[in-house]
Amino acid sequence: MPTSPPLAPNPLRRGLVEDRAGEACAVVIFGASGDLTRRKLMPALYNLAWSRALPAGIAIVGVARGEKTDDSFRAGMREAVGRFSRRKPIEEALWADFERGLTYVRGAASDPATYESLRAHLARLDADRGTGKNRLFYLAVPPSEFGPIVEGLRASRLVGDAARGQDPNAWSRVVFEKPFGHDLASARELNDTIALAFNESQVFRIDHYLGKETVQNLLVLRFANLLFEPVWGREHVDHVQITVAEDIGVEGRGRFYEQTGVTRDIVENHLMQLLCLTAMEPPISLVADAVRDEKVKVLRALRPMELAEVNHNVVRGQYARGTVHGEEVPAYVEEPDVAANSRVETYVAMRCFVDNWRWSGVPFYVRAGKRLARRVTEIAIVFHEVPRTLFRASRLSGITPNVLSVRIQPDEGIALRFISKEPGQQTVLRDVAMDFRYGAAFGSNTPEAYERLLLDAMRGEATLFTRRDEVEAQWRYIDPVLSALGSEAPPLTYPAGSWGPDKADDLLTRDGCRWRKP
Ligand SMILES: NC(=O)c1ccc[n+]([C@@H]2O[C@H](COP(=O)([O-])OP(=O)(O)OC[C@H]3O[C@@H](n4cnc5c(N)ncnc54)[C@H](OP(=O)(O)O)[C@@H]3O)[C@@H](O)[C@H]2O)c1
Repeated sequence: MPTSPPLAPNPLRRGLVEDRAGEACAVVIFGASGDLTRRKLMPALYNLAWSRALPAGIAIVGVARGEKTDDSFRAGMREAVGRFSRRKPIEEALWADFERGLTYVRGAASDPATYESLRAHLARLDADRGTGKNRLFYLAVPPSEFGPIVEGLRASRLVGDAARGQDPNAWSRVVFEKPFGHDLASARELNDTIALAFNESQVFRIDHYLGKETVQNLLVLRFANLLFEPVWGREHVDHVQITVAEDIGVEGRGRFYEQTGVTRDIVENHLMQLLCLTAMEPPISLVADAVRDEKVKVLRALRPMELAEVNHNVVRGQYARGTVHGEEVPAYVEEPDVAANSRVETYVAMRCFVDNWRWSGVPFYVRAGKRLARRVTEIAIVFHEVPRTLFRASRLSGITPNVLSVRIQPDEGIALRFISKEPGQQTVLRDVAMDFRYGAAFGSNTPEAYERLLLDAMRGEATLFTRRDEVEAQWRYIDPVLSALGSEAPPLTYPAGSWGPDKADDLLTRDGCRWRKP
């Protein structure tokens, strides 16, 4: 039987070899028994070890309140990595090496003894594992503990000049999980507390969307190709749609969601970041502050909304019972830990404007929601229609505006819809798509966002993290919206499995547009 020739190597994978490694350090994870550590952080660290991106001098220290030994902590983390790592099964030799660097310190955030134990522990690791007095503190704890931990680190002199000892190159950095603040006032207060212990260059505020390959690719798409930038603005773009849709409900996190709602959970951070990357001007370089300067300018250019504008430009909803992928699901108010009369929004759609030269008059329609028809995050640039004079005689129904859509998840990729002639004797027009799929082009095992972000934090690269002025500008825009929504009628309901409340369609139809059904 003839054998098929071996597959040629994929030329697009050339040069993708992981050639970056973190700097020697101790990664201290506060919240080591939590969901995030189990599902994301530890699998990400293991995968970095797999790709030889962890430095030789690495130690990972888990901190939480439960009683654990190093061995029981390692066993728990092995189980988590086995379940959640993108590479399966665990490689025994690699794990044996990896787990030697895993240790556990018991302690509560507000107890000074925690930091004393930690200091002694870290000193031992400097000697035993060569971590060089470098520390990456990762705060994977409820936001209420951010302040006490920063204060504990400061008061115990685990950060700052005293922590460096004789070594002027030793560094400490701190990573904050989201949500960062509950509103502008609390975000500012937290930033002030942090500033007492850390310089801004030491602070890494995570928005894990920025760690996604497709989000990073937005800047490459826009600024490494000649084709798109000249048409990227009001002269050619009719409007922009940004959708962050989930098909799941609150998944047992009712208590968290009752305090948050989709506007705080998704819009204030992820969605605003996607909007910034879509709308920003070319930065002067790709260093952190150059990119963040341009993002902040977009946030400052967002047209503020007072109460009357909120009523006109914002629609919020809450899911009722419905059917998602053929399965009947309960209403939001029937979920565990959710109040029967809850007014918390699980859907929000907004019509925003970036009042600068490039985007003047171009609406940005953004929406986010739970229990929608499908899980999809995409940015769609919808271009103006062409004049129809040439094609009067042909079937005009085929003419629709060109759309460039960037799919962030799932099926990561970029699609360009344009008009083509159908084969045949007559001129019949129809829209077709050129579709680039990340998985097919580069192979599907792309790094998880947390791998990229942890490695960047270990290397002190802050481009993909949110700066203080950026996070405060996000809240400054969202705060009045939240206050206005709070004083308004309860959210409109929409059936689970739909695309949100009907009224959200009006936001677009009155401008002559329609939501995409991606
Ligand atoms: N889970 C996710 O997918 C996800 C996604 C995005 C952002 N986040 C953010 O990440 C953070 C952690 O989320 P999570 O889902 O992992 O929460 P979680 O499962 O509730 O875990 C919280 C962790 O914090 C520790 N902790 C709580 N209070 C503490 C205290 N006073 N002192 C010391 N440790 C304390 C807990 O340990 P003990 O109770 O054992 O002490 C536990 O390890 C939150 O800010 C969350 O918003 C999570």
